Amino acid sequence: MAQVISIQNQPDNALKAGVETLQKGQVVAMPTETVYGLAADATRPDAITAIYETKGRPRFNPLICHMASLEMALEYGEFDTLSLALAQKFWPGPLTLVVKLKAESPIHGLATAGLDTVGLRVPHGFAARLIAAFGRPLAAPSANSSGRISPTLAAHVEADLGPRIPLILDGGPAGIGVESTIVKVDNGQIHLLRPGGIATDEIEAFCHQSVIRPQKAGAIIEAPGMLASHYAPNATLRLEALEVSADEAVITFGDFKPKNLENAGYVLNLSAKGNLAEAAANLFAMMKQADKSGFNRMAITPIPQTGLGEAINDRLSRAAAPR
Ligand code: TXA
Ligand code: MG
Repeated sequence: MAQVISIQNQPDNALKAGVETLQKGQVVAMPTETVYGLAADATRPDAITAIYETKGRPRFNPLICHMASLEMALEYGEFDTLSLALAQKFWPGPLTLVVKLKAESPIHGLATAGLDTVGLRVPHGFAARLIAAFGRPLAAPSANSSGRISPTLAAHVEADLGPRIPLILDGGPAGIGVESTIVKVDNGQIHLLRPGGIATDEIEAFCHQSVIRPQKAGAIIEAPGMLASHYAPNATLRLEALEVSADEAVITFGDFKPKNLENAGYVLNLSAKGNLAEAAANLFAMMKQADKSGFNRMAITPIPQTGLGEAINDRLSRAAAPR
């Protein structure tokens, strides 16, 4: 069973235990600003294998490699001008840049699934300190069994992976709540591989150019993790519900009341104020909560497609996809 260490109460101990566990080639669940990650040494095949095995993750799905700083990232990836500008603007933060892997990079091919590109991200806070103390990049997917809802609390990780991992570093609730935005620059154009914690329009405003959206979820396996069915709760999920029924757990947003809400079995609101950042932060925890409420059916009311709504709707459509 995993040892759980509170970063707030025992910062030195958390860092030390994290580094020691990573040095053994084992996995560590660590908080990031987006979701909890299942981290391991990105240069060691045994360590990366432990990530795939713990999650039950298909190995054709590459992992994001986390860096302590932009300087560190420059040692592993080749940055074109635009990728560099994006890194300078949005790092540390919830942006993953897919760039060309440096030829002599020690990142192991198991982490990149053999691609000649690599997804790089510099997270905020404790995760960056852990990477700096460890001194090598950390491959880290979300710390959940493959295909399930990502964890935004240490308790989510413990409930799912606790028996299978040695260490969980508890940093409290993940502030952003959805995974990083993933982009790839190709010929000066920015391609969105996954909407996430940085709103796409923020990137567009910064670069003064439009970001090219994926044609259709699941159409291109450019980000192989973008499988249609993902984030699956146990209950079925119905989207854009304007009307609900008594046998459903209902998730609402803002002040919109679907028809028949008063008869719904169970009701949660992602953000009563209608704030999309708050909704993103609550999304996965509330999906889990609704899933545990005892109903086999969940319904969610419409979420605007603006700002972080794009990432929220992306996760919801995968959660609702046929399994
Ligand atoms: O916020 C996040 O991004 C979290 C935290 C832990 O950092 N991590 C995360 O990792 O969401 P994961 O493994 O659940 O998602 C990684 C995504 C997958 O869709 C994968 O296919 C894509 O990144 N990816 C990684 N490397 C890639 C590459 N070289 N080219 C295209 N897509 C890549
Ligand atoms: Mg994931």
